Amino acid sequence: MADDPTIAHNAFKEFDRNRFSLVAEGYDQAIAVVTSQANEAILDAVGAKSGLRLLDVACGTGWLSAAAVKREAIVTGLDFAENMVAIARVRCPKAQFYNGDAENLTFESSQFEAVVCSLGILHFQNPERALAESFRVLKPGGRYAFTCWTPPTRNPFMALILGSVQTYGSTDVDLLPAPPLFRFGDPTECAHVLNGAGFTEVSVTELPIRDFQRINYSKKNKRQVLSRMIIILRGEKRGCPGQPLFSPSSMHEESIHLSSALKLNSVN
Ligand SMILES: C[S@@+](CC[C@H](N)C(=O)[O-])C[C@H]1O[C@@H](n2cnc3c(N)ncnc32)[C@H](O)[C@@H]1O
Repeated sequence: MADDPTIAHNAFKEFDRNRFSLVAEGYDQAIAVVTSQANEAILDAVGAKSGLRLLDVACGTGWLSAAAVKREAIVTGLDFAENMVAIARVRCPKAQFYNGDAENLTFESSQFEAVVCSLGILHFQNPERALAESFRVLKPGGRYAFTCWTPPTRNPFMALILGSVQTYGSTDVDLLPAPPLFRFGDPTECAHVLNGAGFTEVSVTELPIRDFQRINYSKKNKRQVLSRMIIILRGEKRGCPGQPLFSPSSMHEESIHLSSALKLNSVN
């Protein structure tokens, strides 16, 4: 399969893709180091093992792909942000990576024994279409798993970031509407879309994510990570750049060790 030149076929996708490419390095250092705690559970959910053909959709900078390669799976990763893919290729030379759109996979049907998607589904403009595509490329009997954030009520990290942005930011700016961030924070909704895509035996599990104090809060990373959160809230208060929205000192031990969570959905 070649890289797909037709990924950016609408305004939101083009915008989001450019943003992710812009923040790739900061995302890799500031967020993926922490969220990759879920990787082993995701791989367990799809039974990743030696020789299994696995597709990592929205692979980002390749942490999950690298964990799958460590289990000797045969790994293909796909992401629409070029700079994310570039980092993934360096991190994990044994996997094959492509630029491509999760909602329009150019793989043949029934190619993979497992498809995984870590924190990608909440960014897709049309998650139903992405799930249908993953379903299509899975072999019959193949397993699928995705993760997403739980809502801020059960997720201190998200509560802290979104609360900070709401305090210092503004949604009153001219940006494209984004998909609802916490749609899949509802386990019923997860099961509903998976069943709708044709999956059976759906299960939803909550995973603790700890150690947010390990996040690298260099000035550059902070700006990059926050720029994404600000996009989610549709914008930053004009003329109010660079506010100290959060910092290690504002994240007390309780906040960090009280777990944030990912929701894991596995089907077979
Ligand atoms: C929050 S990051 C997660 C990255 C990685 N899976 C991880 O867990 O660290 C979301 C990723 O989804 C990718 N993405 C968003 N929409 C996409 C789409 N329609 N097709 C392919 N990748 C997409 C972004 O480029 C970004 O790398």
